[in-house]
Amino acid sequence: ITVYVPRDSAAVSVGANEVAAAIQREAGAEPVRIVRNGSRGMLWLEPFVEVETDRGRVGYGPVTPEAVPGLVEAGLFEGAPHELCQGVVDELSWMRDQQRLCFARVGVTDPLSTEDYEANGGLAGLRRALELDPADVVAQVTESGLRGRGGAGFPAGIKWNTVRGTEGPLKFVCCNADEGDSGTFADRMLMEGDPFCLIEGMTIAAHAVGASEGYIYIRSEYPDAVNTMRRAIDIAYAHGWLGENVLGSGLKFDLFVRVGAGAYICGEETSMLESLEGKRGMVRSKPPIPAITGLFGKPTVVNNVLTLASVPTILADGPQAYADLGVERSRGTQVFQLAGNIARGGVFETAFGITLGELVNGYGGGTRSGRPVRAAQVGGPLGSYVPTSQFELPMDYEAFAAADAMLGHGGVVVFDDTVDMAAMARFAMEFCAEESCGKCTPCRVGAVRGVEVIDKITGGEDRDGNLALLNDLCELMTDGSLCAMGGLTPNPVRSALTHFPDDFMTNNARHE
Ligand code: NAI
Ligand code: SF4
Repeated sequence: ITVYVPRDSAAVSVGANEVAAAIQREAGAEPVRIVRNGSRGMLWLEPFVEVETDRGRVGYGPVTPEAVPGLVEAGLFEGAPHELCQGVVDELSWMRDQQRLCFARVGVTDPLSTEDYEANGGLAGLRRALELDPADVVAQVTESGLRGRGGAGFPAGIKWNTVRGTEGPLKFVCCNADEGDSGTFADRMLMEGDPFCLIEGMTIAAHAVGASEGYIYIRSEYPDAVNTMRRAIDIAYAHGWLGENVLGSGLKFDLFVRVGAGAYICGEETSMLESLEGKRGMVRSKPPIPAITGLFGKPTVVNNVLTLASVPTILADGPQAYADLGVERSRGTQVFQLAGNIARGGVFETAFGITLGELVNGYGGGTRSGRPVRAAQVGGPLGSYVPTSQFELPMDYEAFAAADAMLGHGGVVVFDDTVDMAAMARFAMEFCAEESCGKCTPCRVGAVRGVEVIDKITGGEDRDGNLALLNDLCELMTDGSLCAMGGLTPNPVRSALTHFPDDFMTNNARHE
């Protein structure tokens, strides 16, 4: 009897470890094997327990330790009906309607089992890549249309080509796992649920660009991801998947984990490189771009976790299969993350082109509070607030940009009709003031002034004058900031002003 209880930190935070212990206890003499898998991403059902049956895996959730004796008595180990039973997992619409490429194994396998990994398609991409000339690997990634999943959407193949074409005896592959955006957690879930996939993607990148060393920069808020990645790297070395002679191909690639210290700005790529070099995380001027002058001044690939974890499937199944998915210039799949005031939050991987409304109201089931949805902030704390009147927007980089919004890292944070959008605009400025690295004036000083001006507007002080000042300030921050932190902070502010102007009135009942 095989029972799956996630080890993902979202599941553990709501009691998965206690549930696993209770199942072990209740199993008594029954031959029960508990596998600690990743999470399927249906976070409202965590802890989500699955049992292997001849119909497929049957899921139960949310399971509490107290519910376990009753569940076992009702026939948990046979996949019997129960009020917590959700049915056969692969047949649930949440799972069935997804196109899981990047997340194909997350929640399915034991994250640290090499047998599980290979039995579920692992290493096929790397093996294929190692048969190819590095230039052809780069060409395949370019053909697939894969764009940077960290938020900016820069074509991955073009970036790799720049690194490949830059001469140098030492090159690096750095994975940005400093997932700082509010409402995003896909990088963490991938690292905790399928760490070998990231290792495989980075090794393919190393072969493609001629790099011999790699670093995964993980935020300190992710201790479970840090531990899982470190253990996975040790196992990969022991199996010859990393090191002097990767899979007997002659490729040399060493991989290390480095842990950040909790600054949002260290997710900005040049700041992350400074931090990796042991310095304070301050933004560097670009150019030069990291592809040419990166870690320790050497040519460096810097990609997000999901970008690198999408590469194995592209190599394994061919670039066309990936490029066939999606819309316009947004090809392949995106791992959307639904969070905030939402009934069914979690990860949903599907091809670009699904609408925001389908995600929030369809799969997400609307708000958790049961009140009407008012807006969703897409793309993290620097993303715009999208009103429900624009929920028909397809999830596509360019369509969002045309609507003065951004897709970013795919995070969607939902708000109901009680939200005070002036307070949210203020929060954006406050967040920027808090997290600014301090290198340039528009951001360092502008964000502090932004908070003050919004307070004056909602306080009724020279409304028109201060509104004009706020618009001016937003323009200055957009045009004059050195990096995206100061440059994008005006997004949430402007979108709140445009779509919810009444919230900025002094006597608006929403103000506390
Ligand atoms: P960017 O547009 O400056 O650069 C994108 C990437 O393309 C960089 O890696 C850059 O080095 C590279 N690049 C540009 N020209 C190149 C060339 N000719 N050859 C090779 N590489 C080239 O954007 P940036 O500042 O790196 O990222 C901003 C984005 O970060 C925002 O749009 C936001 O969505 C996202 N973000 C994500 C967060 C997260 O938690 N994932 C947190 C905060 C922001
Ligand atoms: Fe630093 Fe802000 Fe300037 Fe970016 S915009 S370099 S975070 S001060």
